[in-house]
Amino acid sequence: MRFGLSALFLLVVGVQAARRNKYIVPGAEWRDTDGNIISGHAGGITFHDGKWYWVGQNERPDRPELFSGLNLYSSSDLANWDFEGQALSPVPDTLIGPGTVVERPKIIYSEETQLWNLWFHSDNSSYGLLRQGVATSPNITGPYELLQIFNPLGGPSQDFGLFQDVDGSAYALYSNGDADESHDNIIARLNSNFTNVEELVYTFFDFDLEAPSILYTGRRYYIFMSHKTGYRPNDVNYFSAEKIAGPWSIQSYVAPLGTRTFNSQSTMGITVNGTEKTTYIWCGDQWSTAADLWDSRYLWLPGNVNDDIGEFKIEWHDLYSIDVKTGVVSYPEGKTYEAEDGQWTGSASATVCPACSGNKIVKDIQGDATLTISNIVGTGQPQWVSVYYHNPDGLFGNNRGVSGNRFVLNRWATVSVNGGAAQQLRQRDTNAGIILSMPLNITFNEGSDNFITISGLNGTKASDIDRIVVYGNIYED
Ligand SMILES: *[C@@H]1O[C@H](CO)[C@@H](O)[C@H](O)[C@H]1NC(C)=O
Ligand SMILES: *[C@@H]1O[C@H](CO)[C@@H](O)[C@H](O)[C@H]1NC(C)=O
Ligand SMILES: *[C@@H]1O[C@H](CO)[C@@H](O)[C@H](O)[C@H]1NC(C)=O
Ligand SMILES: *[C@@H]1O[C@H](CO)[C@@H](O)[C@H](O)[C@H]1NC(C)=O
Ligand SMILES: *[C@@H]1O[C@H](CO)[C@@H](O)[C@H](O)[C@H]1NC(C)=O
Ligand SMILES: *[C@@H]1O[C@H](CO)[C@@H](O)[C@H](O)[C@H]1NC(C)=O
Repeated sequence: MRFGLSALFLLVVGVQAARRNKYIVPGAEWRDTDGNIISGHAGGITFHDGKWYWVGQNERPDRPELFSGLNLYSSSDLANWDFEGQALSPVPDTLIGPGTVVERPKIIYSEETQLWNLWFHSDNSSYGLLRQGVATSPNITGPYELLQIFNPLGGPSQDFGLFQDVDGSAYALYSNGDADESHDNIIARLNSNFTNVEELVYTFFDFDLEAPSILYTGRRYYIFMSHKTGYRPNDVNYFSAEKIAGPWSIQSYVAPLGTRTFNSQSTMGITVNGTEKTTYIWCGDQWSTAADLWDSRYLWLPGNVNDDIGEFKIEWHDLYSIDVKTGVVSYPEGKTYEAEDGQWTGSASATVCPACSGNKIVKDIQGDATLTISNIVGTGQPQWVSVYYHNPDGLFGNNRGVSGNRFVLNRWATVSVNGGAAQQLRQRDTNAGIILSMPLNITFNEGSDNFITISGLNGTKASDIDRIVVYGNIYED
């Protein structure tokens, strides 16, 4: 008896400690292996010694400073991330002080100096300096110390991307600013120890783009850049070329038009060179509003590449797993529950919707209206649930909005399970006739008697609901 109890205790503790994420879930709240929300915004990723290292901006609700540090995470499977600490922390009264801008960090190793170099966009609070910064460390995880801050090739630099080619050379990717004579996007080669910019390699004249990143497939370079619309997402562009110095192709769009790249902005790329295939993961930031920047999410999706015609596309998947040994991606099936098969109260009603599954949607969920979807099969463990919806608030190309209001760029729904406490669900603008989804972590009872009730937060209008899709358990068994 005694033995049995302590064995049970050990088992429970063991299961807790071993909870490993199975999936990469675009747009979900991602947690590190300590259970804290991953704060690695506008990040960069570096592969070293069997692990990926992800550096990104720290944005936390309790850290209102402009610059509160760059966080570093490591992973050997891309789904479970260990927090390695702050790579770079603010140093008061310096060019990396709490009131300065330190954004879009990327890390690269210099064989020449045997140091890791952390690059970033460096600026003052009104973005008037337009510089780049480099900090160094003998250890990829840091801590890094500032080496220098400069205007590359003597000119302005806005945003920052970094690409290391297969021949070892590295390139800074940036824009030359918003002045009338600027609006260009630049690829510039770094010096041999990766501490400065040495030579202009290519200029995309007058495209006025930002947030550059490059993926190389062995045959073609693909450069991704967004339009300049602040935290509001837009349709991200890409160009391709057989040589980094060009000629580069005309531009195209990486995601289906109108989805605003599934509400995200380019930031970095991951190459998984597996034994069966090489998978290229396009990585974007799904920014929230300036009022709750900390709740910005990550949107990583594998690319469908056709080098013959220079095509790189991402398509929507609620979640996927990747075997980093083989490079193979798998997309699990979920179980779909249509909103029009549910029950609604108040002003809510079902209407036709050509873009929806079942060609129906439930709209006008506001005031005290509710939508309830029943007979949901659950496992009794946390599961990913994707809520497909329509929110056409931000029409006409790039959506409207000012910062400082968490109801701009999205509506909010509440989702309660089996009559329990409600979770809030951000429902970003989708554009008219475009159906997108947002994931939630939900624990149902085991069995098929579960129900979900959706309403507008505080009586505000929730998005129209097309369907929910219930996937398997979040964690490995
Ligand atoms: C940032 O730098 C620019 C250029 O020197 C300057 O005009 C601007 O006033 C500075 N902004 C702040 C907030 O110091
Ligand atoms: C690098 O930092 C890690 C902690 O992040 C530490 O375990 C390791 O010993 C350090 N390596 C060196 C060479 O300092
Ligand atoms: C890097 O190389 C440049 C010359 O290209 C040199 O001036 C500089 O001192 C070197 N920096 C480091 C940290 O070794
Ligand atoms: C993938 O790895 C193999 C073996 O290490 C190497 O030969 C090949 O160049 C790599 N491919 C890419 C695209 O990095
Ligand atoms: C999912 O929800 C459970 C229960 O609230 C929580 O313990 C867990 O940390 C969550 N997992 C993720 C990945 O959000
Ligand atoms: C709901 O509205 C009340 C009254 O306006 C407000 O105090 C509260 O913060 C709101 N709750 C949320 C979650 O927005």
